[in-house]
Amino acid sequence: MEQCYQTSLGKHKERIKPAASRESSTSPLARAMDLKVLCALSVTLLVALSTLAEGIAPPTKCQCKVVPRERTNCGYPGISAAECRKIGCCFNASVPSVPWCYNPKPKKVRKVCPNDPYTRINCGHPGIKPRECTRKGCCFRAHPAGVPWCFYHRVVEEAC
Ligand SMILES: *[C@@H]1O[C@H](CO)[C@@H](O)[C@H](O)[C@H]1NC(C)=O
Repeated sequence: MEQCYQTSLGKHKERIKPAASRESSTSPLARAMDLKVLCALSVTLLVALSTLAEGIAPPTKCQCKVVPRERTNCGYPGISAAECRKIGCCFNASVPSVPWCYNPKPKKVRKVCPNDPYTRINCGHPGIKPRECTRKGCCFRAHPAGVPWCFYHRVVEEAC
């Protein structure tokens, strides 16, 4: 699965192409392509599911720190605290005449290039040039040997 994950992530942008070229061919190469496509599809599904799960996940305390006059209404009038949180909103009834059920602030995230070379997920192709790599939004470090030099950044949540 790890291998699958890495390969598919590396091919993220190109994952549609192999599907088109595998028609009416049953060579071992074509079958390998099929596997790759399946692999990419399952990873895509996983990513989609985790995104969905994140949408349902309750907002953090930090995300709910919105000054009362900047709150935008979420849910319907008279919604209970429990219902409000269930639909992913923040509830705070301490200030009258402002929305009590309101939208959370978006999560603050930051892109970082992972330090451990052995956790790198390949983002390029062998011999990719630094500029080409960074233009794809990926990290480039030309060392050490035996690991991808062009690799995906990681997204970390900022502290509040
Ligand atoms: C509710 O909002 C008020 C005003 O912004 C804030 O002072 C208070 O800490 C909040 N309560 C909770 C439980 O977050």
